[in-house]
Amino acid sequence: MVVDVALAGVQKTLRPVLAAKALDLRLPSPILGDTWAEETMRRLDPDFDKGWFATSQLGLVAVVRAKVLDDWARAFLAEHPDAVVLNLGCGLDARVHRIDPPATVDWYDLDFPEVIELRQRLLPQRSTLIASDVTDLGWLDRVPHDRPVLTVAEGMLPYLTEPDARRLVTGIVDTFPSGVLAFDVASVGAWKMSRWDPIGRSYNALFRCGFDDPAVLAAWHPELAFVDEAPMNDAPELMAKAPPATRRAYRLLNLIPGFTRSSRILRFRFE
Ligand SMILES: C[S@@+](CC[C@H](N)C(=O)[O-])C[C@H]1O[C@@H](n2cnc3c(N)ncnc32)[C@H](O)[C@@H]1O
Repeated sequence: MVVDVALAGVQKTLRPVLAAKALDLRLPSPILGDTWAEETMRRLDPDFDKGWFATSQLGLVAVVRAKVLDDWARAFLAEHPDAVVLNLGCGLDARVHRIDPPATVDWYDLDFPEVIELRQRLLPQRSTLIASDVTDLGWLDRVPHDRPVLTVAEGMLPYLTEPDARRLVTGIVDTFPSGVLAFDVASVGAWKMSRWDPIGRSYNALFRCGFDDPAVLAAWHPELAFVDEAPMNDAPELMAKAPPATRRAYRLLNLIPGFTRSSRILRFRFE
């Protein structure tokens, strides 16, 4: 039975990302290997993998992104086992289960109330859930402020307006003594083109900001510094592990000017 979900607009974007993570498990050598994704997706929609398009691996770039963010999270937690983790726009992602942090880590998963309700029904609880619009910064009062913070936002920032994204980032930098922020952004071109994206249109969820230069974000706060970027649309792991048809599709797409950097996975730090 399909779970009776009342997700609206941008909340619906969690579904294709979850499906991509579930389908990754079918690769001979999965990129993420997230067994929670398969179980959660099956509970959300038992027929999610019926039909050719439903099983296409074109969504694997989202899995590459999740893997990068997991790797960066593991690296941060290895250095800061007392950290606070903010997984913003968590959707039905099982990062806290994949990473399995020590009990000394305080992990918060935040999303809209409707998504958090669904998450409570579909995923085992391992973190503190915050049901809030991320742009209502009052939620920051509900987390400890005296420890290093890791902020992860996977597939979320492009759906905020630039002023909201800036208030969020600067609000986090102002609240904690030190930390890392890891998230993906859309390019200015991808933001502008998103109005023609049939899936985004059908969800009524279009990108609302775009950035071509990480320095623009770093300039939002004097303590914020750009650390590095990981490849996404041309990631070696994608080209090594995706099925031939997906590899061919991405090779062709990467020939389109601007495509390769249309989505970027960025890491910033502050002290
Ligand atoms: C593309 S989905 C990604 C979900 C999850 N991070 C993942 O990778 O599987 C984007 C998520 O961001 C959430 N989101 C977007 N805007 C938000 C906001 N203003 N406040 C809270 N959550 C938001 C959506 O509800 C959705 O769950």
